[in-house]
Amino acid sequence: MTTLQAASQGAQLSDAEFARLAAIAAKEAGLSIPSSKKSLVQSRIARRMRELGLRDCGAYLARLDSDASETRELISVLTTNVSNFYRERHHFEYLLAKVVPHLAEKLRRGGRVRIWSAGCSSGQEPYTIALELLKAMPEASYGDILVLGSDIDPKILRRAVDGVYTHADLEPVEPADRRAFFQAAGDGHMRVADRVRALVRFRELNLHATWPMKGTFDAIFCRNVVIYFDDEVQRRLWPRFREKLEPGGCLFLGHSERIHPLDDTGFRTAGVTIYQKT
Ligand SMILES: C[S@@+](CC[C@H](N)C(=O)[O-])C[C@H]1O[C@@H](n2cnc3c(N)ncnc32)[C@H](O)[C@@H]1O
Repeated sequence: MTTLQAASQGAQLSDAEFARLAAIAAKEAGLSIPSSKKSLVQSRIARRMRELGLRDCGAYLARLDSDASETRELISVLTTNVSNFYRERHHFEYLLAKVVPHLAEKLRRGGRVRIWSAGCSSGQEPYTIALELLKAMPEASYGDILVLGSDIDPKILRRAVDGVYTHADLEPVEPADRRAFFQAAGDGHMRVADRVRALVRFRELNLHATWPMKGTFDAIFCRNVVIYFDDEVQRRLWPRFREKLEPGGCLFLGHSERIHPLDDTGFRTAGVTIYQKT
């Protein structure tokens, strides 16, 4: 057997090892990883093992036991971070048409505006929100307005904080907005302009743990995140989101996510995957 064959055999996850990793992901982050995802998990773990210079999964599990910080790395390895500017554009159209007028009025009266992008990945979602708010309410820069972007994965949050994207990443952004809200960052990259960044704060936050924020939000975007949780974990989240919303505030979910059943949740359907606190 060659060294390479031996190494790849060591990286083979047994069913028991897969079950242990899935149990850690469920306990720590609420992630539900079905056994059909075993080969995906295996290839992601193999990459992490190479980084650590480990040859077999048993050694990796031992590392998880002996080094608490590796659990965070594991969660980072297991989560999917795909995101885009203006993903599910109809949500931003709704925000502009139905939510922004109310927010503008609030700001005019000296009130405070807060929007939460929960599971914000590399930042495109909170930056899209901030950009739309600035376009609709240029005076927002002077008001008490913030977009919170949170994610469980500190590595992806560092990219969000950097706010540097390729030209291809910016395809969904209107050319005029690209010019107005981004600046050249060299090497074919663009950086989110300071006046947009000034509206956004990033924070590491596990949706499956306690939330430190005291205040409430005018809208919460939690899109393409709960799809990785099982039904029970999702059901426990809805009342927590509701509690964090202002009266009449909206929760935006991803295209394949639903509050179901809706009865007695204290939400009503306001649009496609948009739920308003009643
Ligand atoms: C597919 S991305 C969604 C990004 C963005 N919301 C969008 O729709 O484009 C899912 C994100 O959820 C985060 N995530 C997964 N489990 C989480 C948890 N328990 N708490 C907070 N974030 C979590 C992942 O780290 C990942 O960045």
